[in-house]
Amino acid sequence: MTTSDVTTTEMAAIAIRPLDVDDVGDVLKLGQRVYDLTVKPYTSWSLTAVATHLDGEGASCWVARAADGRLAGFVLGSVGFDQRRDWGNLEWIATDPAFRGQGIAARLVTACCRGLETAGVRAVVTDVESRNEASAGLMRRSGFEAGATVTLFVREVADIAPGG
Ligand SMILES: CC(C)(COP(=O)(O)OP(=O)(O)OC[C@H]1O[C@@H](n2cnc3c(N)ncnc32)[C@H](O)[C@@H]1OP(=O)(O)O)[C@@H](O)C(=O)NCCC(=O)NCCS
Repeated sequence: MTTSDVTTTEMAAIAIRPLDVDDVGDVLKLGQRVYDLTVKPYTSWSLTAVATHLDGEGASCWVARAADGRLAGFVLGSVGFDQRRDWGNLEWIATDPAFRGQGIAARLVTACCRGLETAGVRAVVTDVESRNEASAGLMRRSGFEAGATVTLFVREVADIAPGG
């Protein structure tokens, strides 16, 4: 299926609602399809990641469902970031490629942030992999501003000389 298969009427019928236990399988599979699980930060995508969010106190997790039941997208947010309990973390978001470019992710971000605000956080933090222009654009468009930059330096074990 391609984006052109999704009509304007279908897009208008996309409903955003809280993540339910019945959504877990579809959410896991969509993440497995769109995240590159061989590279950080996506290597931690798992059933545990979804379930932990679903169980978390104050979690703000939402799905976008088409009228025919297809999962168009999801977002997983939680209360707490590192040691800060007054910050929320929008950790995972994805839309099915067939539903992209129609504002669904922006709606999911709004729902997630509102839920975290209701849970009492003072700010919402999200990290964006430096090459992920779609995600960076989404976050800017949704009112996030770039803060600290963290670069993951990696030293492969095979490159380490004996004794050094
Ligand atoms: C990032 C992602 C969620 C965006 O989903 P989407 O539903 O297409 O996004 P939206 O249609 O809501 O777009 C909202 C804004 O995001 C930005 N955006 C979306 N796709 C973009 C792209 N390919 N390049 C640049 N900016 C983009 C735009 O600013 C857009 O607003 P505009 O249309 O008014 O210009 C989607 O591309 C995706 O699932 N990517 C793979 C998973 C991923 O990388 N998730 C983030 C890390 S967890």
